[in-house]
Amino acid sequence: MSQAIFMLQPSLTTTDLTIRFGGHVAVNKVSCNFHPGETTVIVGPNGAGKTTYFNLISGQLAASAGSIHKGDLDLTRMSPSTRAKNGIGRAFQLTNLFPQLTVLENIRLAVQARSGAGWGLFRPVDSLTALKTGAQKYLEAAQLTDKGSMTAAALPHGDQRKLEVALLMAMEPDIYMFDEPTAGMSLDQAPAVLELIAQIKSDPTKTVLLVEHKMDVVRALADRIIVLHNGELLADGAPDEVMSSQIVRDVYLGAATEETA
Ligand SMILES: Nc1ncnc2c1ncn2[C@@H]1O[C@H](COP(=O)(O)OP(=O)(O)OP(=O)(O)O)[C@@H](O)[C@H]1O
Ligand SMILES: [Mg+2]
Repeated sequence: MSQAIFMLQPSLTTTDLTIRFGGHVAVNKVSCNFHPGETTVIVGPNGAGKTTYFNLISGQLAASAGSIHKGDLDLTRMSPSTRAKNGIGRAFQLTNLFPQLTVLENIRLAVQARSGAGWGLFRPVDSLTALKTGAQKYLEAAQLTDKGSMTAAALPHGDQRKLEVALLMAMEPDIYMFDEPTAGMSLDQAPAVLELIAQIKSDPTKTVLLVEHKMDVVRALADRIIVLHNGELLADGAPDEVMSSQIVRDVYLGAATEETA
């Protein structure tokens, strides 16, 4: 990735972002800028606050303090759906799928939601054609071309995960957030989903945030790594630099020691 790209305005900024659950501070004053064309992998031991940080950005949880901006737009008090309409795309397992509809119908609904075409029965043939073309594009992008007429429920697990990514792509977000996207997948299923993320990552207008434990995935996709620990931002930098830093070793070693204690 060239230096020039990081001269761009940040697409997403969290400033002193904080959430407390009772006395426990799960995310503690996290300030971070994310940029278009950049994939940031968020690492940290279990319970570090990674998923909670995502929940704050997508709006599933309300911040106790601090702010979240997308460009000049203040997202901090917006509902999750308003954030989604403003380009925050979070992959959720299965929640967006209509199991009894076909793969293609599922994608078509996502394209329709994005284009705001609504549910009306009568609409110009053009928009219907555009809808079909759009849906076909994401079906192919997700490498599900030969499975378009299967019901989502009948898809093998790995293909369902691909469909979830396709639905997210159909929403055309600027910011993509993936929380352990290959968790629970078999070794032969994971590459297809990672390939889709790599495809998204190759678009210089998209910002990708990825929570990941698997080091081979981190290495393959990260332009930058940030480390969360006890809710705090502990390190932020180039992958090699962060992964070889003493502070990260201490955190992981500490976590391993606690787990085996
Ligand atoms: N809704 C909630 N209510 C109370 N505590 C919560 C809530 N959500 C998260 N926490 C706490 O916040 C801390 C951070 O949790 P979080 O799920 O963000 O960790 P994580 O880094 O995603 O961990 P993992 O790698 O295991 O997924 C944990 O101590 C967790 O118990
Ligand atoms: Mg988590």
